Amino acid sequence: MSIKDQLIAERLPEHVAIIMDGNGRWAKQRGNSRIFGHKHGVTAVREVTEASAELGVKYLTLYAFSTENWGRPKTEVDALMALLVSTISSETKTLLKNNVKLNTIGCTETLPKSVRAKLNDCIQKTSGNTGLTLTLALSYSSRWELIEAVKNIASDVKENKLDVSEISDGLIGDYLSTAGIPDPELMIRTSGEHRISNFLLWQLAYSELYFCDILWPDFRREDYYRALLDFQSRERRFGKTGDQIKK
Ligand code: IPE
Ligand code: IPE
Ligand code: MG
Repeated sequence: MSIKDQLIAERLPEHVAIIMDGNGRWAKQRGNSRIFGHKHGVTAVREVTEASAELGVKYLTLYAFSTENWGRPKTEVDALMALLVSTISSETKTLLKNNVKLNTIGCTETLPKSVRAKLNDCIQKTSGNTGLTLTLALSYSSRWELIEAVKNIASDVKENKLDVSEISDGLIGDYLSTAGIPDPELMIRTSGEHRISNFLLWQLAYSELYFCDILWPDFRREDYYRALLDFQSRERRFGKTGDQIKK
């Protein structure tokens, strides 16, 4: 039986988040520039997006560019921005065909105008789609997001729009850029690194974490199915005992 056939539809995560890592090392292994790796990473993005849409996963969040990534050499940052523009242009048609809605999280005002324009165009064109919501984390870091949320909560309290007693788990979630999106049940990171790198710190509180050694440009549908199958074998206890969960 194929890995895909072993997946139980009712036990698929509603939201999968992915730290797409290893493009630079993939390129280096081939004696090529880092941007060559980023370009090949697009194939993997297409594969997981299509597979998610097909399986009925409702939300897919991809870490595409972190706040910290602004510190990379300018040539790499510029090339990544150009790649974003060309990829969004070429993929909009496929997103429409697959009923995928595009969304972003992060400090997108800091992105070049050309990137913002393309993103807005694609977000607007796909806004009526009802299948998968694909969220790109761009110029995103979780601490940035939490700082924004704290500032907004403080200002609403100051303006008497909110009472301190109303601050709860749910309310904090409503002030994050992922408001309205359930927390990811599964977070995947490729390339063998075992860290979160400032990604969705609040939202990953109870996510299952899956790490694999595959470098992102090599990640394919089968690898994604393998991660989903592994997820389905986990016992999610949320602080309770195993016996309580089995009841
Ligand atoms: C992930 O691959 C893509 C981005 C962070 C934009 P990397 O570029 O981090 O690749 P490695 O980790 O250096 O191999
Ligand atoms: C995390 O990868 C950010 C993205 C995948 C966009 P990095 O390669 O930037 O993370 P570190 O530096 O290894 O933690
Ligand atoms: Mg990396």
